[in-house]
Parts: sequence; C-alpha cells; structure tokens
Amino acid sequence: MLVNKAIFPVAGLGTRFLPATKAQPKEMLPVVDKPLIQYAVEEAYAAGVREMIFVTGRHKRPIEDHFDMTVELELALEQSGKQALLEVVRSVKPDDMECIYIRQPQALGLGHAVLCAQSLIGNDPFAVLLADDLMVGTPPVLQQMVEQFDEWRASILAVQEVPPEQTRRYGIVAGTPVNERMLDVTRIVEKPAPEDAPSNLGVAGRYILTPGIFHEIANQKRGVGGEIQLTDGISGLLRREKVFAYRYDGKRYDCGSKEGFLQANVELALAHAELGPGFRQFLRALEL
Ligand code: G1P
Repeated sequence: MLVNKAIFPVAGLGTRFLPATKAQPKEMLPVVDKPLIQYAVEEAYAAGVREMIFVTGRHKRPIEDHFDMTVELELALEQSGKQALLEVVRSVKPDDMECIYIRQPQALGLGHAVLCAQSLIGNDPFAVLLADDLMVGTPPVLQQMVEQFDEWRASILAVQEVPPEQTRRYGIVAGTPVNERMLDVTRIVEKPAPEDAPSNLGVAGRYILTPGIFHEIANQKRGVGGEIQLTDGISGLLRREKVFAYRYDGKRYDCGSKEGFLQANVELALAHAELGPGFRQFLRALEL
C-alpha cells in the first residue's frame, strides 16, 4: 500500500492577506523565492507522492500555470544560455509528477474540499497537505509520516504542542501514547476553547488518511464555523479504524498568518545558500 496521491486544498479566499491576495491566490505568495504551494508539492514529492490533486476554485489559475510548461520562458532561457535558471524552471514539475485539478464550487470547508477529490483517490490511502503550513524537517515531515504509515497502516495526523491559549486555531487530539512520537488517538475536536481542549496537541496541516474518511465526511453535519470539517470526519473515522497522531520532527511556519509568513521568510532566507550570509549581515546591522 503506497501513498502515491496527495490532495492540496487551495480553494480558500486568503482574506487574511488582503490586499496581497485580491488578484492572486494566497498559495502563490513567495517565501524567499518559491511560492508556498511549491514547498508543499516538493514535500509530497520527496515523500514518494507522484499524483498531485489540487482542489481549486475561481481565481486559482496561477497555480495551474505554475505547474505547467512555460514554453516561451524555457526557450528564452535556453537561447541565452541560462542553464541554471532553466533547471530551476523545469524542476517545478518533474516529468514523473502528475498534476490534476478539480474544482470546489463552494467554500464549504476543508472536509468538503477533501470530499471533492474522492473520485480521483478511489480506494487508496492518500496525503492531505495544507500549503499554509510550511513545514521544514529532515527528512521532510510528510516522509516521516509515510515511514510511520508503512509501519502502522492506519491514518496519521501530524501534531505539535501548541500554547494553551491557541487551541481555538487547531484540531486538538487526545490519545494513548504508543511510543515517544506516536499517539493512538481517542478523541479529536476542531478548534476548542482552551477550557474544552482535551490536550495541548494541535494538528498541523499534514495528514495521511485511509479512504474510509470519505464516508465519514459525507455523512456529517456542518461543524465549527458552519463548515464541513475534516476534523469531524476524522472523529467519525476513529470510531471504526485506528488513527494515530505523530509528533513530527521539524518546524512549522503558520504562513496563514502574517507573523508566521514573515518568520518563514526571515529564517528561510538565513538558511539560503546564496542569500543567507549577506542577509545575516544585514539583520545584524539593523539597530533593533
Ligand atoms: C485547519 C484544520 C485544523 C488544523 C489546521 C492546521 O484549520 O481545520 O484542524 O489544526 O488546519 O493548520 P485552518 O487553519 O484551515 O483554519
């Protein structure tokens, strides 16, 4: 059983980044020199995923263009001998990677977005990656999860400890530890108030799910915010199947918030082979 397919829900409006997202998808906002969606796609590819399924909406065409061939650009770079840049452009979509686009006609929630891809997933386990969450890890976080999936053969949610006052931002899980990093999930609640949170373990935007999730999502009522929540589907799933939470080894930048987005830019610029040293000097010279 291989995890060969990933869903990228990218139909959201990106209101938190207006006006930057007035005419471009939030997933195309660049962190240093790459759009957010490319980080997520590269992470999936590194984990062995080859079929990328984007659940899109209106105004998301730039995402499709980004993962398409850009013939004029490639020709121009080739003719001017800019081989390194040509490689950069071509590597956005490796030859063995397939991109599929499906529409979510109405923004009815994350669970609904996942459900939109059901016919493309069929009966296979699959990953869900939220591009807003930029994950940095060695090995990449989804690869760590695929390794766990190979061992446990059950749905796996990436989790991290979150400050108690921030439980309203996350799906929060509770469970029985099976080892240092894994929890056998017994409960999951979407965005609880701190006093209702069953723990301080919040779900980050990485999931490996079994196809049983579709039935659960399809049969559930609207949840928090009037939306069809993926978390509620998972809550149904764990009554029938094992679901594990995995404390990933790595760092998450919440690029759905301006603070997280800026932090990602600063830290990834510092880690950048070419830009890093000069940027570090620039920051040092700032009189903060
Ligand atoms: C979604 C999920 C939430 C999860 C979060 C991770 O919320 O509904 O359970 O913890 O992603 O980023 P959103 O951030 O889309 O509101």
